Amino acid sequence: MFANVPRPIIFAHRGASAYAPENTLASFKMAVEQRADAIELDVKLSADGVPVVIHDPTTDRTTGAPGRVADLPLAALRELDAGRRFDEKFSGERIPTLDEVFETVGGKLPINVELTNYSTPTDDLVERVAAVVKKYNLQDKIIFSSFLPANLETAARLLPDARRGLLASYLWKGREARKQGGQSDVYHSLNPFYLDAWPGLVRRLHRQNKQVFVYTVNNPLVMRMLKAWGVDGIFTDDPLLARRVYGRGA
Ligand code: G3P
Repeated sequence: MFANVPRPIIFAHRGASAYAPENTLASFKMAVEQRADAIELDVKLSADGVPVVIHDPTTDRTTGAPGRVADLPLAALRELDAGRRFDEKFSGERIPTLDEVFETVGGKLPINVELTNYSTPTDDLVERVAAVVKKYNLQDKIIFSSFLPANLETAARLLPDARRGLLASYLWKGREARKQGGQSDVYHSLNPFYLDAWPGLVRRLHRQNKQVFVYTVNNPLVMRMLKAWGVDGIFTDDPLLARRVYGRGA
């Protein structure tokens, strides 16, 4: 998937979210313009079972309107403004559906789809997302990630051709995942928090034939350090900065 991409691979975290409201079509289009190597986004289900792209379990922070995504049908979510809080010039941006994102940028860059049903882990998010991926025939351009191993096991069964990365929570909370991530055949990568990435971890995971994708890296010094340690990819809000730091032009 990233055969000709220099390492580390630059994933635009929630799109180019330093420049445009996170997880909106504007931020994904900007990631393409800024020549990120890939896009990262967060998906969960609306109350009527539509895969929608939003990070938090609630709409409060990004739209200013209180509510739980799992309680709101798509029509209600679509009324919210996902851009204005970031900057007035983005007012009118909507919470996109996964369908819309694939239609807009699906063929352009690989997409890391984080399965974020953390507050509704028994729903059928993975099945519904897999159906959308199949509809757009993007199996070989998708990486699934999640903090929930069960999501990735389901993804492996439904879409064996898509790649999978286990997210490890930070510090002591992520210890088990950092261990398991290297051992299980379900995962192609382990995705640690940047403070947990260190040369010994990278070496061990590479010995275990796993890639290491680190989140969320916005500091140039940390970007340089991670490259020196041989990490395979970083998630950053600022793909433009990452390209500059890695000598890949603006
Ligand atoms: O996938 C990397 C990163 O997005 C994981 O953390 O909290 O942004 O979902 P979070």
